[in-house]
Amino acid sequence: MVDQQLAAQQATLQNGRVATIRPLDEGDRAALLAFGQALPQDDLLYLEDDFQSPEIIMRLINAHQAENWRQIVVETDGEIVGYSSVRRLHGWSSHVADIMLLVSPKCRRSGVGMALAHAIFNAARDLGASKVIVEIVEEQQAGRAIFERLGFRVEGVLSKHTRDRQGQYHNLLILSYHVG
Ligand SMILES: CC(C)(COP(=O)(O)OP(=O)(O)OC[C@H]1O[C@@H](n2cnc3c(N)ncnc32)[C@H](O)[C@@H]1OP(=O)(O)O)[C@@H](O)C(=O)NCCC(=O)NCCS
Repeated sequence: MVDQQLAAQQATLQNGRVATIRPLDEGDRAALLAFGQALPQDDLLYLEDDFQSPEIIMRLINAHQAENWRQIVVETDGEIVGYSSVRRLHGWSSHVADIMLLVSPKCRRSGVGMALAHAIFNAARDLGASKVIVEIVEEQQAGRAIFERLGFRVEGVLSKHTRDRQGQYHNLLILSYHVG
């Protein structure tokens, strides 16, 4: 367990709303579950973790101070509208960090994703990562677009590497960025 150095920040979104970008906290269980419940089927199909499962949400909350893991949320009016995490890998890839990013559908295209992406990128640096990767199911066009805009490039494609909850296989893109 470590004292996480990430401070809360305020940001004004493109829709004029003020958002707080801050580390996930142990008091966020209900808000994070509500965030997961509001996700559309398409998102749920392509997520590694089931954000509608109370057990998964509890696991994320319990890890809010894990040493190799940072989790950041965006909050507006007491509601979580964005979630992002970065986890340092183990062993010979311990210089690599894997990030994920998820924004509530009602808040998309207003800058939440970009603000979160910057915050989680700083968190990856804070974890000491020199390479950052993101795994994106090929169908997640918006995810690919935002990371390519941030300078990530497709490094590999793993064919039929994920299986969604309906049993369909999908290719998985690995996008990467070398820090510094
Ligand atoms: C990807 C995601 C996080 C983007 O969040 P967002 O809040 O809409 O992102 P932003 O509003 O900050 O968009 C920033 C830029 O990303 C690009 N972008 C975002 N969504 C896009 C889309 N649907 N199509 C094309 N470009 C897109 C644009 O360049 C955009 O800038 P612009 O709005 O000025 O054109 C969101 O769509 C999402 O949660 N998708 C499902 C999960 C996912 O794919 N996660 C990524 C893999 S972990």
